Amino acid sequence: MRVLIIGSLGGELGQAARIAMARGAKLDQADDADTALVRLRADARVDLVLCDLAYDIGALVQALAAERIAVPVVACGTGDDPDAAVRAIQAGAREFLPLPADPDLIAAILEAASGENHALIVRDAVMAATVRRAEQVARSEASVLIHGESGTGKEVLARHIHRRSRRAAGPFIALNCAAIPENLLESELFGHEKGAFSGALARRVGKFEAADHGTLLLDEISEMDVRLQAKLLRALQEREIDRLGGAAPVKVDVRILATSNRDLPAEVKRGTFREDLYYRLNVVSLRVPGLRERPGDIAALADHFARKYAEVNGMPNRRLTQAALARLTSHGWRGNVRELENTIHRAVLLAEGDSIDIGAIELSGTETPQPAATSVNSLVGRRMEEVERDLIIQTLDHTLGNRTHAATILGISIRALRNKLRDYAAQGVAVPRPAAGVAA
Ligand SMILES: Nc1ncnc2c1ncn2[C@@H]1O[C@H](COP(=O)(O)OP(=O)(O)OP(=O)(O)O)[C@@H](O)[C@H]1O
Ligand SMILES: [Mg+2]
Repeated sequence: MRVLIIGSLGGELGQAARIAMARGAKLDQADDADTALVRLRADARVDLVLCDLAYDIGALVQALAAERIAVPVVACGTGDDPDAAVRAIQAGAREFLPLPADPDLIAAILEAASGENHALIVRDAVMAATVRRAEQVARSEASVLIHGESGTGKEVLARHIHRRSRRAAGPFIALNCAAIPENLLESELFGHEKGAFSGALARRVGKFEAADHGTLLLDEISEMDVRLQAKLLRALQEREIDRLGGAAPVKVDVRILATSNRDLPAEVKRGTFREDLYYRLNVVSLRVPGLRERPGDIAALADHFARKYAEVNGMPNRRLTQAALARLTSHGWRGNVRELENTIHRAVLLAEGDSIDIGAIELSGTETPQPAATSVNSLVGRRMEEVERDLIIQTLDHTLGNRTHAATILGISIRALRNKLRDYAAQGVAVPRPAAGVAA
């Protein structure tokens, strides 16, 4: 999260800036609106502008709009002149932040501006039990291993643990071990010094250091190769890391949460996951149940997503009808919460009238028969990526969801297969899950 401050950091605005920094924001400062515009043109990463009321906020908002720079502007000033605050809002400021700033208000503004809504919705008793267990261990320093099928909300739960932890004011950093090529993962985790390899033009801090005093979520940890697992174990035991090409270790204070949608004990037995690392990470384990196992959550999640996507798309919030909710509750949800989210997003866009009715609920997957490809001739006229997707999904069906077996048959790496499946799941395609007793 990057925040650009327009105004002097000497007074109460500076104090607000320091609170934002303590909440993990990176700060940049400009003495006037013109300088700010130069910065904003050069740096697309600014998420939020805090501007002293003393400046012409209307002119700034207009200049941003003219250059198509989409960044929210929050006006800041002492509450002495309520008219000035009103004028700023009318001129296009997103909010007014009264100074001296209230830390909770700053946190709320930062969260709203980052566009990230990580609220964890829970109604079903089965899920409530998991959340209760998570909250019990949140304030400890223990590593937690979170497992569950794809799209069940493992990351949402990890963020919830961070928010309830003593590290809540520190950063939450997530790293997906499966999404990063093996040869880059080490530098991504531990960083590197200038000259550590050709192309290392400057020192780069890795995720471990970025998460200092906070929480590091290692997603899909089972995808990390054994050599790197040894380095990770050392980092956890010694509480220090070695940057690539670094001369001396660097102390880090990081709490680790990890997720896996593979059966880690089985990976340990197969020798692909270190047993000592497994025990180190698995101080507490949490299983996020599949959406099928917690039907009581479906209506609340659907409502939540309907509101979210109405807002994102600038549409009025409409309620789901009883018939639509009944349809949702009876579906199998192989794609879990993510599939539900996509379904509701579609429904928000498709619904006509002042409620979201059953006609707008398009369920993907099981009901839609996949075209059977028996001969190459029958494939002519279809898109390559569609054919690939059908082949992958049908091979997985054939192997009862066993990823390893399917990857072998398809002649691709498990990593490549998993990346494809993640994309499909994100598109709302129902991906066969591993059958009971079959290693994922
Ligand atoms: N309990 C919940 N409340 C609100 N939103 C949720 C909840 N669970 C999941 N979601 C939403 O569903 C989507 C998938 O959740 P998340 O990314 O946490 O799942 P995951 O288990 O980490 O998935 P993957 O296995 O693909 O990594 C996200 O958009 C998330 O915001
Ligand atoms: Mg995840």
